[in-house]
Amino acid sequence: MIDIHSHLLHGIDDGARSFAASVKMLELAARDGVTAIIATPHFSPGISEKMQQRIDELRPEAAKFNIELFSGCEYTFSDLDRQEKLITLGEKEVFVLVDFCSSFVSPLTRQFLFDWQVKGHQIILAHPERLFCSRDLPLLKDLADANIFFQLNAGSLRGDYGRGVRRFVKTLIKKGLCHFIASDAHSVQNYAGQLPDFRKYISKRFGSELEKVFFEENPERMLAGKLPISVW
Ligand SMILES: [Fe+2]
Repeated sequence: MIDIHSHLLHGIDDGARSFAASVKMLELAARDGVTAIIATPHFSPGISEKMQQRIDELRPEAAKFNIELFSGCEYTFSDLDRQEKLITLGEKEVFVLVDFCSSFVSPLTRQFLFDWQVKGHQIILAHPERLFCSRDLPLLKDLADANIFFQLNAGSLRGDYGRGVRRFVKTLIKKGLCHFIASDAHSVQNYAGQLPDFRKYISKRFGSELEKVFFEENPERMLAGKLPISVW
């Protein structure tokens, strides 16, 4: 299983607090069945060099758990505005993880996202279940129609962000507004069975084919620079 959103690297953002904490996260991720992690620290100036250094330090530890590490980044909408070149997820310079809420979506901002798409990027919206609500469903559908992809958090199903988010994450899946499910891990607590539990839920409710799409095929396609499969 490939985890496409994780704050595994220490001392960069609000993720792991120490090298030892990063190693512990790797151990628990491996226990959850994770075989590759894209490190996605929150964007800040100069982050690329720092991230590369941390990944180089952590890679031998990750190898002990048979986990492959990739670099990435999590942008806010306003971060994107100031960039000439974006840090993408994995080695292909295609997919960008962005965190924005409904109040940021306007014709102007859609054009802005479209401009990045024209430049060859694909946008993945991080955890919409935490930032949007039921009345935003038509807006989310419009975004999906405009080839914006959705990454849901594994902890949302378990209720880590409250009951409203738990309900809404199920709605998004039913409506086909899901392409990836990831940990968004900030600490070991996010590798405590949430990913396997979400897999079981998808498999039971929607079948093992869909489970494979969300947790394996789409992340693999993304790392290969290919568009994810949309369901429904
Ligand atoms: Fe995140």
